[in-house]
Amino acid sequence: MSELRPRQRAFQAALDEMGRPGSRRLIPTPALVCELDLLSTNIALMADAAASAGIALRPHVKSHKSAFVARRQLEGGAAGLSCAKLSEAEVIIERLVADGYERRVSVLVTSPLVGSASAMRAAALAESCDLIAVVDHFQGVDELATAFEGTGTPLSVLCDVDVGLGRTGVVGPGPALGVVERIEQSPWLRFAGVQGYGGHLQHIVGRDERQTAARESANRLVDVIDALESNGHGVTLRTGGGTGTSTIEFEIGLLNELQPGSYVFMDREYRDALGDDPEGRFAQSLTISTTVISANQKDFVTVDAGLKAMATDAGSPLVVGHERDAQYHFFGDEHGFVTNGPDGVFSRGDRIDLVPPHCDPTVDRYDFFWIVRGDIVLGVADIAARGCSQ
Ligand SMILES: Cc1ncc(COP(=O)(O)O)c(C=O)c1O
Repeated sequence: MSELRPRQRAFQAALDEMGRPGSRRLIPTPALVCELDLLSTNIALMADAAASAGIALRPHVKSHKSAFVARRQLEGGAAGLSCAKLSEAEVIIERLVADGYERRVSVLVTSPLVGSASAMRAAALAESCDLIAVVDHFQGVDELATAFEGTGTPLSVLCDVDVGLGRTGVVGPGPALGVVERIEQSPWLRFAGVQGYGGHLQHIVGRDERQTAARESANRLVDVIDALESNGHGVTLRTGGGTGTSTIEFEIGLLNELQPGSYVFMDREYRDALGDDPEGRFAQSLTISTTVISANQKDFVTVDAGLKAMATDAGSPLVVGHERDAQYHFFGDEHGFVTNGPDGVFSRGDRIDLVPPHCDPTVDRYDFFWIVRGDIVLGVADIAARGCSQ
């Protein structure tokens, strides 16, 4: 947990009472609140499941963007971290080091890098961590080879494979062979394996449907791996997967490394999709705390969290403790309204906690998490890589 920056001194009252019962009520809202024990349970659950399946865990930083959470994942047995972009990795590594984390961290940047400037940044980053990059085009290989020329250790490079999402990755064995041969021609690069991330699978409703789709995606990756191996290119690392397919990937047994992100916090979108499936067993450790600022209407109360307080791509949040009998509706930039029913359970000044619709982009709207245990504030944790999408 960390020091507050000067502009956050408005939050001093809650910090002055930190560690005391009731201090949670002093958190100025809207705020992102993380239940430490639930976070720890989620981290341990995924680590244990991966270890039992004999699969390495490389959790994705994009969901929390925080060195506080990353460190707990590493200390909980993760083999390394996944980061969406270079700047996310740069900031997290810098922050882990500044906070006294001494182990050298293995970091996979899961998006392809484009341009010589990015490749040069990758070379600089590789001085402070064991960097793994992905490529899906021979020009990306050439840019990295040039940037790493003369460096002491060759850069580990994965071939990113499109397993049906269509976002990035080579499409099919032919282009994969072209990219991998190019990697192996460079003395400054080392071909380390493949990445096949099926983002389109994660929120498929129904375990059977999700499993069938995941098997189809796995088959696409198998086709590429078979072609590479029969041409003499050993595929050591096979990384991919997310929260929604986590247990399914263990059953399929193709990946030897899983890169889930959302499981640390969970959100409404995942709860809707996964229901009681084994992949949905993670606790809701993250909530948006709000305050009722007006309660003069018959059927609803107004809270202080609106469009600015959460990502809206996945619809509305759930009202914690009233998932069935109260609904949140957006009420403009700064406000929302929560239905109150004829018996009116909510009054002016009440705290109402919300389950974020989609955790990753919601986290990116805040500077820090309030870390709590029940009604006690334990501290704050910086969302150090907030905004780091470059
Ligand atoms: C490449 C990659 N890997 C892993 C993940 C983690 O997925 P989830 O948050 O669904 O666990 C993501 C999320 O978007 C991703 O883009």
